[in-house]
Amino acid sequence: MKTVIEPYRSRVIEPIRMTTREQRERFIREAGYNPFLLRAEQVVIDLVTDSGVSALSTRQWSAMHNSDESFTGSRSFYRFRDAVQRLFGHAFVIPCHQGRAGEHLLARAVVRPGDVVFANTHFSTTRENLEAAGAEVRDLPIPEALDRTNPHPFKGNIDLARLEAGLAEAGNRARMVILTVTDNSRGGQPVAMANLRAAHDLCRRHGVPLWLDAARFAENCYLVKLREAEYAGRSPREIAREMFSLTDGVFMSLKKDALGNTGGLITLDDEAWAEAIRVHLLSSEGIPTAGGLAGRDLEALAVALDEMLDEDYLAYRIASTRRLGEQLEEAGVPVVVPFGAHAVYVDGRAFCPHLVDEQLPAWSLSVALYVHSGVRTWETGNVMQGRQDAVSGVWRWPDFDLLRLAVPRRVYSRSHLDYAAEAVIELLARRSSVRGLRFVYRPPALAQFVATFEPV
Ligand code: F0G
Repeated sequence: MKTVIEPYRSRVIEPIRMTTREQRERFIREAGYNPFLLRAEQVVIDLVTDSGVSALSTRQWSAMHNSDESFTGSRSFYRFRDAVQRLFGHAFVIPCHQGRAGEHLLARAVVRPGDVVFANTHFSTTRENLEAAGAEVRDLPIPEALDRTNPHPFKGNIDLARLEAGLAEAGNRARMVILTVTDNSRGGQPVAMANLRAAHDLCRRHGVPLWLDAARFAENCYLVKLREAEYAGRSPREIAREMFSLTDGVFMSLKKDALGNTGGLITLDDEAWAEAIRVHLLSSEGIPTAGGLAGRDLEALAVALDEMLDEDYLAYRIASTRRLGEQLEEAGVPVVVPFGAHAVYVDGRAFCPHLVDEQLPAWSLSVALYVHSGVRTWETGNVMQGRQDAVSGVWRWPDFDLLRLAVPRRVYSRSHLDYAAEAVIELLARRSSVRGLRFVYRPPALAQFVATFEPV
């Protein structure tokens, strides 16, 4: 059979409220032309993120009913801790309320001003947290990752030659190397095991710890199975265990691959670092056996650490995202290839050649797509990553100005995604009608969540 079906069926449904174009024009104007400031009920299909929006399984709900909500030492924590240790293999397990909380704790605990941190690409919150602690962060993607149409199967790889030179030059200022799996900011591209192993060897030689930002590690492992010949016969869980065995620690949002509506994790082997992180945990997140999570959250996550690596589920997930991408590609939409797992990315600059960078092409496209169809998407480009020089006022724009159609896990059906594809394709036919936008209010950091705009 050619048709890939969802390996689950619905038991509870949530109605979608339909809206008209006129209503959506008003909603987005009232939201300052920022899709993040819309009310969710004003959205027909929400592809703004795959984070915290997964549908829970019957097994997860069942475990949640059986949770232990004790203040400290709850049974639910120990179930979570054991599940993490079985999979990740590190000695210390520190829960926290979401991914960026873990980044904040790690940065405060181990980064000293002047330290250098290397990554394939730091996610925006990781970058903010490390820089706030005084680190200099360096992104080292491979050159192929800078070419939207290059079919390289592992565009999430870190550039090993530049990493080696950077480690040698930074000397004892090099604090850590981070591989973001998958590389969300550059198209959701995976990292190859061969690249991870080589990065591990370099780190060992230079005495620098290797960490993963593992928000989407299960999808990365499945793409390794599909694309790296040596791993074709291995299960995603086996690949994951090998991956983690090459690391000194992992920080992770549990709201993505780990199917949580909330949750974050740090797991590591270094006792001194774990102690330093726990000190900050106590004053900001909560006690070490909860990290700000309820027992029922920990239960749902413990179950998910098993479900997220299910092969039928991962095969379906990758096939359904690829199908969305292929529909767009066949219609001539400028997409980032090859397709990753959690999202399809559209090149805003190529889609809107009539807009210059100051007119924020991908952001403007996101607004136009919402008005046209009620589909909400996320810009990862000029608004999210653009930097203005404080003295000269000159803008530095990122390599890519992308629109991301993120696919929530176990939520939308094939026809929902067909609708989103059709909306983008219809907009392509009238792309010159996409109006540029400019900033009205721009906060100093993480602008995308609260900035407001007006049409140019
Ligand atoms: N790292 C990566 C690679 C991420 O994609 C995110 C969040 C985080 C860290 C931070 O985790 O949201 O739990 O605090 N990405 C979301 C997204 C917001 O839509 O891509 P968080």
